[in-house]
Amino acid sequence: MNKENKQLRFVKTKYEDKINDIINKMTIDEKIGQLNQVGTSIYGSEEKFYKDLIREGKVGSFLSLDGVKKINMLQKISLEESRLKIPLLFANDIIHGYRTIFPIPLAESCSWDEELARKTARASAMESWAAGINWTFAPMVDIARDPRWGRISEGFGEDTYLSGILAKAKVDGYQGEDLSKNGNILACAKHFTAYGGAEGGRDYNTVDMSRQQLHEVYIPPFKEAIKAGVGTLMAAFNDLNGVPCTANKYLLKDVLKDKLGFEGVIISDYNAIAELITHGHSKDLSCGTNAAFNSGIDVDMCSFGYLKNLKELIDEGSISIDDLNESVRNVLRLKFMLGLFDNPYKSDEKLENEYVMKKEYLELSRESAQKSIVLLKNSEKILPLDKNLKKISLIGPLADNKEDLLGSWATTGNKERVVTVLEGLNKAVCDKTDIMYSIGCEIEGEDEKYFNEAIEMAKKSDAIIAVLGESALMSGEAHCRSNIDLPGVQEKLLKKLNEIGKPIVLVLMNGRPISIPWADKNISAIIEAWHLGTEAGNAICDVLFGNVNPSGKLTTTFPHTSGQIPVYYNHTNTGRPPEKSKSIYEYDSKYIDSPITPLYPFGYGLSYTNYEYSNLEIYPKQISKNGEIDVRIDVKNLGDREGDEIVQLYIQDLFASRVRPVKELKDFRKVKLQPGEVKIVTFKLNISNLGFYNENMEYVVESGDFKVFVGTNSEEVLEDGFEVI
Ligand code: NOJ
Repeated sequence: MNKENKQLRFVKTKYEDKINDIINKMTIDEKIGQLNQVGTSIYGSEEKFYKDLIREGKVGSFLSLDGVKKINMLQKISLEESRLKIPLLFANDIIHGYRTIFPIPLAESCSWDEELARKTARASAMESWAAGINWTFAPMVDIARDPRWGRISEGFGEDTYLSGILAKAKVDGYQGEDLSKNGNILACAKHFTAYGGAEGGRDYNTVDMSRQQLHEVYIPPFKEAIKAGVGTLMAAFNDLNGVPCTANKYLLKDVLKDKLGFEGVIISDYNAIAELITHGHSKDLSCGTNAAFNSGIDVDMCSFGYLKNLKELIDEGSISIDDLNESVRNVLRLKFMLGLFDNPYKSDEKLENEYVMKKEYLELSRESAQKSIVLLKNSEKILPLDKNLKKISLIGPLADNKEDLLGSWATTGNKERVVTVLEGLNKAVCDKTDIMYSIGCEIEGEDEKYFNEAIEMAKKSDAIIAVLGESALMSGEAHCRSNIDLPGVQEKLLKKLNEIGKPIVLVLMNGRPISIPWADKNISAIIEAWHLGTEAGNAICDVLFGNVNPSGKLTTTFPHTSGQIPVYYNHTNTGRPPEKSKSIYEYDSKYIDSPITPLYPFGYGLSYTNYEYSNLEIYPKQISKNGEIDVRIDVKNLGDREGDEIVQLYIQDLFASRVRPVKELKDFRKVKLQPGEVKIVTFKLNISNLGFYNENMEYVVESGDFKVFVGTNSEEVLEDGFEVI
């Protein structure tokens, strides 16, 4: 039992009698109904069907509905026309905002800002709560080391430690202190687990990995979400080491419930119980239902397996009534915690109008977008641009585009309200600046018909801003790419614009790292702007013209080419690491046709100022396995403007019974530095957190030498060491 999972344990005690009273009154069908999640639409031919299901007590929750009027109408049916009048849950994917859209999670993670992550989750919770939603399927805390995988956009990047911090912040932000209070909604940590480890970066694909890697890399962010009291968890679509996660007793019972002490509700992913058949695991829906339920899935998302088969499985003794009661208890407990039995109509249209797209959410959207931007290159100091430039040409398929700026999972987002770069630019420059715009080309496809118009326009300008990248739907669920270059003819256009010889800034918008070796070599100013949401255009111009000094740092490695993938910072060494060897055979972990190092490493990001790191000190230099060491370093702002620097601390266990990563992030600080200011940045490292799972799956810290690295990214670091005795 996890002692830190306070919220659920407390409430469990408080509501248990009431829950048992209801359970005692329920028929088996009504119990099964609580475990049944239905619908993505209730209109047309399906409307009567769903309403009747509610009346019969055969629905516990709805998926993907929004709008308080519709939601309250369905709630009313349950409360007035069903026998036991149990309130319904309304779940939705509020991934990075409801109507006000915040940066995609991958972008926001580049802020390395726990408080910001909490605030954007809070705002998303308030806005969607007012629209009747009481359960979000977020945060997605899957580690992603393969940028071909489309859902890399929905998570916090490749690092386990940072993802854990942000997972906790998101759960706090959505759920608040007390779920029954206005504006708080249930969170769902997903997808359990190793979903991001899909072979070939193809969504839903097989995952085969060691238990050690699973527990060291993929599970810890879920552990943090559980510690924060997350109410629900979603099982992943993939199979893990041959067993689909939906029917994986080891994962859902042994790990989640027994080891991590999770006491909330486990839901399947969409139709995943039925898909146990196509996986080749269960021969029909009844077998799938049996396997999923007995492995620990409480709620069936939309496969109707529980509704159709659970009763029969109970009758024949394959599923125990005690287990059924336990799952129903888990669901009812959450309904009590949300306060739905006392106040089932939490919001109304007046509140909805008041909350949706509030000024403060829009301001937060701009702030979070500013903090998510990563400056990748500024070698000629073109940036920040002068607001008094006479003529600026703005070129590219994403320069005046609203929809794609919303990002991969913003179906509820308000598209009309998105600020494009063109709109932002018009507000950012002085009255006399002439802004010229051309789409240049489409995001995809071979058509070059706008090239001439763009080139002629660019020739007349003092500076070119090229806004290129991916559409929103080139990342996200089921949208994986085998080649992560700039799509279509965009690079060709960029080359032509570069030939003109004017100062040129490349603004990238994408839901994953993209490989841009040519641009990196030839374009002197590059900004990674991801898909930043409602206020994207304003935030990008804030950075372009220097109102904001960029401070974001990459949370995912950028490769030179797709063929290098997977490339991530915390890999282990082979016996022949390339740097230290001479002959080709001693270089065996190298490619003969491409670098193996990243184009931009994890933790990388520039600023309009620069920082100097010095005087790294560690105390003590020898320490016991349960001790703590202090690390300190001086960081100085060498430039003439204020900046926020993300100071990163990594360790390496030099020799161990299982080879360890060359670096592992263990802490970081975001510090504000005035021009010329020096700050002493301090860290405390708890040695018991520096361990790993040995061959017997025991978590151990082994004696020996460790290195400590502190620096501005995972490659530019100062180093020292200590010994664990
Ligand atoms: C499938 C996705 O994998 C999951 O993340 C999402 O929450 C559900 N569909 C519901 O929309």
